[in-house]
Amino acid sequence: STPVFVAIDGPAGSGKSSVSKAVARTLGYGYLDTGAAYRALAWLVLENGVDKDDADAVIRTLDDFDYFIATDPDAYVVRVGQTDVTDAIREPRVSAAVSAIARVPAVRAHLVQLFRRIAAGVDAPGVVVEGRDITTVVAPDAPVRILLTASEEARMARRSAELQDDAAATAGAELKKRDQADSRVVDFLNAAEGVTTVDSTELNFAETVDAVIAVIADTQ
Ligand code: C5P
Repeated sequence: STPVFVAIDGPAGSGKSSVSKAVARTLGYGYLDTGAAYRALAWLVLENGVDKDDADAVIRTLDDFDYFIATDPDAYVVRVGQTDVTDAIREPRVSAAVSAIARVPAVRAHLVQLFRRIAAGVDAPGVVVEGRDITTVVAPDAPVRILLTASEEARMARRSAELQDDAAATAGAELKKRDQADSRVVDFLNAAEGVTTVDSTELNFAETVDAVIAVIADTQ
């Protein structure tokens, strides 16, 4: 039977990925990090020396985009062809390039199909799919749809806690820039009709995970 689809959207640094992964682990669900697919494509674009702002060249890159992402939250890995890119896709050069490729409509259309197929094929009672347009485009009919937000201050503070002062300032600026670019393409700052907002500004990690699980329990 088809796994229960849990759609989660939110801005960068909202803790979306780690919260979604923990929720999936707790419920025995699969987990799909859609941002990782956009990042993997951006990585391949850079690897091939393609100009990230050349939409046609980016679209051609999709032809040899052989992408794998594990949906087991305990065995998270991302590969392009034979190359393990799990860590490489987090590099600042990839973060800086990803919005340019994510705004190409043909790229989005291609990946949306891929995400639906991966989610439907997950061998678990449910699947947590997180990104920017999951509640609105990938799965607008999902039984559970959540917008995970946090004040900009809280998001920057969480990111900074992991970094040195200089790196924190740079990462904060990068996050803001990426959210601005991304939100011109898809709206993940306002909850669409029927989407439940979970605001984690005043919550710690465990409380946020519990709040998401409560929404899932409520909707079923
Ligand atoms: O979630 P993460 O920050 O890793 O996403 C990386 C980038 O992928 C985002 O900045 C955005 O450009 C793109 N993205 C998207 N739609 C999604 C998920 C990610 O456009 N559903």
